[in-house]
Amino acid sequence: MFQAIHETVDYIKKKTEQFQPEVGIILGTGLGGLVAEIEVAFSLMYANIPNFPISTLEFHSGKLIFGVLNGKRVVAMQGRLHHYEGYNMQQITFPVKVMKALGIHCLFVSNAAGSLNPDLKKGDLMVINDHINLQLDSPLRGRNDAEMGPRFPDMSEPYSRTLIQQAMEIAKVEGITCMQGVYVSVTGPSLETKAEYKYLRIIGGDAVGMSTVPEVIVANHMKLPVFAISVITDEGFPEILLPCTLEEILETAHLAEPKMTKILSQLIFKL
Ligand code: HPA
Repeated sequence: MFQAIHETVDYIKKKTEQFQPEVGIILGTGLGGLVAEIEVAFSLMYANIPNFPISTLEFHSGKLIFGVLNGKRVVAMQGRLHHYEGYNMQQITFPVKVMKALGIHCLFVSNAAGSLNPDLKKGDLMVINDHINLQLDSPLRGRNDAEMGPRFPDMSEPYSRTLIQQAMEIAKVEGITCMQGVYVSVTGPSLETKAEYKYLRIIGGDAVGMSTVPEVIVANHMKLPVFAISVITDEGFPEILLPCTLEEILETAHLAEPKMTKILSQLIFKL
């Protein structure tokens, strides 16, 4: 693994003239628009980066973008990788390890998610303050790399409390309604049945999605502070559940994206 990380980092450093990002950003489904705010210095296709898995989704563009956002040097993944695409947990989280090796000291993650909480409606934002991993696998399974982190990493604060507080303050000042809540990660790719949405609510979830948690586990293993935010793209309320399509999810993500972008870019400015 170390060898692969070194090889990838060497390639990226050469291609980006030793660009040193301070912040890593992973952009979720339908949420790639933050890239428009970045003064792009370099853009690399995943397909050209050694050891990088390639996104199999036509709506995820698969580019690693280097540039400046609100005065901070960032690296942004436009298009992430999911377990349901057939990749294992180590492959999905490889880019997080690479971004850490490139020098990031903070990771920002966004995703599209279904609501489990009646107070969270389509188009709302939810700052993630905790998670439940129902993907039933861990990117840390296997021999532990002690140089990366401990065998049993602490998960008492997987999402930085300081960053959550700052984000909530930004939302308030900007007049953006934003709740905090628990994100449940599932494997997918089928969306949930009524009984499953009901179950996920009962066990303590506020929103459900198919990503984020593997990346967050790996970041915590490496003691990398994380901020994560969900855009609510559909409502998983069992009593009134309506059919949901990818088109709807993408459309809602696009509509709500400017609010999320505002919070993320201001939060990055304040770092
Ligand atoms: N369930 C799982 N993943 C999702 C959903 C959902 O309702 N919406 C967006 N991603």
